[in-house]
Amino acid sequence: MAVSVPRDRPIGVFDSGVGGLTVLHELLVQLPQEDFVYLADTARFPYGERSARELQEFSLQIAEELVRRQVKLLVVACNSATAAALPALQARMMETTLGVDVIGVVRPGAVHAVATTRTGRVGLMATTATVSSGAYAEAVAAADPHVDLVQVPCPDLTAIIEGGFPFDQRVVDTVRRYCEPLREARVDTVILGCTHYPLVRPMLQRMLGPAVTIISSGAPLARQVEHVLGSRSLGSLREGEGNYSFLCTGDAEAFRAQGTHFLQMPLGDVAQVEIAAGALQPTPNLARAQRLRT
Ligand code: DGL
Repeated sequence: MAVSVPRDRPIGVFDSGVGGLTVLHELLVQLPQEDFVYLADTARFPYGERSARELQEFSLQIAEELVRRQVKLLVVACNSATAAALPALQARMMETTLGVDVIGVVRPGAVHAVATTRTGRVGLMATTATVSSGAYAEAVAAADPHVDLVQVPCPDLTAIIEGGFPFDQRVVDTVRRYCEPLREARVDTVILGCTHYPLVRPMLQRMLGPAVTIISSGAPLARQVEHVLGSRSLGSLREGEGNYSFLCTGDAEAFRAQGTHFLQMPLGDVAQVEIAAGALQPTPNLARAQRLRT
């Protein structure tokens, strides 16, 4: 039985790096009165080629760190971590905390894509970890089993984006190669199933063609967060703007420089945190977790 969490606490958000800033950006716009604490696990970036077990372990460690900082809600702003660890995170939050809800990026994007497609042919660009988890196939089928999902793993794309600008011809060729199967399959809607990808959205739109609708999870996720805060009486009562702060596990100055560029808002101070590797094992109680990946 969940104990009620005070509404004046921050919302915790995490990703492997700067990608989750595309989600944070939507949250800051949609919920300006809330406080946020964003954790980037840059020391262990990239997540996209890691095993499900590693991603579960990392996600549980980060959740513990954010709960220690008294977050009232946890947002997994990383598809790879959502796909591998959402049920484990939800189980752990149910067992060990004051009933902190966990929201991931897979289901909001999948549901929005199914509602958007007119032909029933949807594409997915995502990391290898996300594609091989089957999380999007499951979420799309749950929304409408008649929608075909064409999945393209894009193993180099996150590292290219995290590496920053300027992009050279090699980058353009790599991105074009990833778009090719989606053009061939004549999808009318493409899910950006990695929170880093909206950072190169104009390049993707040009290569996919103007008729394709690109879906990123930030906006639908922000609407879900708004709903969760409202339905649990957890929304901040503040009238002005809230605060946001940043933590990272790698080099703080590098994250600040990169993050300011991508968030297009000042980041202020970034604190480096150490997250003990191997401190937690994946929860044994997965069976009790909600199976549905949100
Ligand atoms: N932005 C993350 C995702 O949505 C992680 C990508 C990575 O670290 O490879 O999957």
